[in-house]
Amino acid sequence: MSQKTSSQIRCVTCTAPVNIAVIKYWGKTDEKRILPTNPSLSVTLGQDELRAKTSVAVSSRFTEDRMWLNGIEQSVNSPRVQNVLKEIRRRAHKRKSGENKDDLGLAHHVHIVSENNFPTAAGLASSAAGYACLVYALSKLFEVNGEISDIARQGSGSACRSLYGGYVLWKMASKDDGSDSHAVQVQPESHWPQMRALILVVSDQKKHVGSTEGMQTTVQTSELMETRFKLVERRTEDIIKAINDRDFPTFAKITMQESNQLHAVCLDTYPPIFYMTDTSRLIVRLVHAINDILGKVKVAYTFDAGPNACLYLLEEDVPRVLSLVRHFFPASKDAGNSSFVTGLKFDEIEPST
Ligand code: ADP
Ligand code: DP6
Ligand code: CO
Repeated sequence: MSQKTSSQIRCVTCTAPVNIAVIKYWGKTDEKRILPTNPSLSVTLGQDELRAKTSVAVSSRFTEDRMWLNGIEQSVNSPRVQNVLKEIRRRAHKRKSGENKDDLGLAHHVHIVSENNFPTAAGLASSAAGYACLVYALSKLFEVNGEISDIARQGSGSACRSLYGGYVLWKMASKDDGSDSHAVQVQPESHWPQMRALILVVSDQKKHVGSTEGMQTTVQTSELMETRFKLVERRTEDIIKAINDRDFPTFAKITMQESNQLHAVCLDTYPPIFYMTDTSRLIVRLVHAINDILGKVKVAYTFDAGPNACLYLLEEDVPRVLSLVRHFFPASKDAGNSSFVTGLKFDEIEPST
């Protein structure tokens, strides 16, 4: 985080990483407050990998709230941006009662400028990084302390999990007002230092059906969702145990089953929603083939609401898995390489036979 102050403008800049769920959130019990139908669990990627970078500024010179995303002005009147702004201002007011509130410029307008260093709205959790970053930056600007993941949740459900590193659980609400539905860290990244994520970008195009609308239609129309609700809490407990025990084969199997079930309920949605493409399915087949050849589950795939894959694997297996991926998808190009994530960009890839 960096903070700049001039006599007329105060500005804070922050970054927030994406998180990729291994137990998927797909459905709300409350659309307005964004309360989930089931708990979910994710892995937060490294700060320097796929991330949103957001600057928030407040000034008496601004005549209205304004927002830019990836260089294009957006309306700040979306209910989600409004909910986040209102809640931050409400908490800042409460905290500053009795003090001089003008110090923070709470009565003034804000300007928000954000950019993602990866495809937006393509199933790589841009809404998670974006709203986590916005809420974190606003909390610094207006000196709001304490739990803020419940505010991020009201921007985009998955965003609450990006406020913590490592392995993160988003709890369902137990209170009637939903206020206790927030994120908690199950284990820090350091608990399992060998864990790696490989992002395979199949397409950087905006998805046809946004996550919000997609999950709404699924809840309304999919009969398979009843079965999913019965399974998912047990799966969450099992994967937490696998994470605690650093049991990769169990972690990987649950991760893949969860991804497959998400896309099964999408297919069971009426009209059906197709997020995965032929290339996504080739990646699934390749992962199972690699695990078969190696005689052990060494790599797991997971797909969010989009065609792009996230592979989870351990550091020692990265070289051979990468070389197999490159062999079967020769048109793929390196798009970065670092400690936690290796990015491969699959520009119009032609799978080899
Ligand atoms: P994704 O799979 O990328 O999360 P979603 O359909 O869930 O796709 O959400 C995409 C929407 O999230 C965008 O249209 C935009 O409204 C919002 N969003 C994405 N990035 C940011 C950001 N950096 N700051 C604020 N909002 C963002
Ligand atoms: C498939 O958090 O993007 O990535 O709460 O409506 O903004 P809204 O949806 P969003 O949904 C994410 C769905 C998912 C699974 C997950 O991240 O758990
Ligand atoms: Co999203």
